[in-house]
Amino acid sequence: MEFTWIDIPTVNDPRGNLAILEKGVIPFDFKRVFYLFDVPSGSSRGGHALKTTNQLLIPISGSFDVVLKNGSDTQTMALNSPTKGLLIPTMTWREMHHFSAGAVCLVLASKTYQEEDYIRDWNTFTAVTGQR
Ligand code: TYD
Repeated sequence: MEFTWIDIPTVNDPRGNLAILEKGVIPFDFKRVFYLFDVPSGSSRGGHALKTTNQLLIPISGSFDVVLKNGSDTQTMALNSPTKGLLIPTMTWREMHHFSAGAVCLVLASKTYQEEDYIRDWNTFTAVTGQR
């Protein structure tokens, strides 16, 4: 299984670097941006799949791991660069673990928030996708 990394165009400068998220760099039009911050040590997030929403996750500060399950496979991705985003396609179960102190996870989503788009129950996900 291949999950796609997106290289975020960056202007490097001795005064500090600047990364740009602009239409065209991301393979969907984003309608929502949110971010996870102040995640306590040892805490995990996620634990769901989205039926029709694509997301791009960017560790704009710190690092964390994302476990992805797409119905047939499981893969753990280490997010640790603010210039590399991870694309999470629809119908992909995701869990986020091992947040470093001060980590911030920025998420760009292709749709506005709708709880009906979530599969939050693992048994429902496995029944739909055949994931074991
Ligand atoms: P949740 O999706 O469970 O967070 P995570 O997957 O990061 O662990 O969302 C936590 C709560 O926030 C849940 O009650 C839904 C709400 N929420 C919104 O209201 N709008 C949003 O855009 C998101 C992502 C979550």
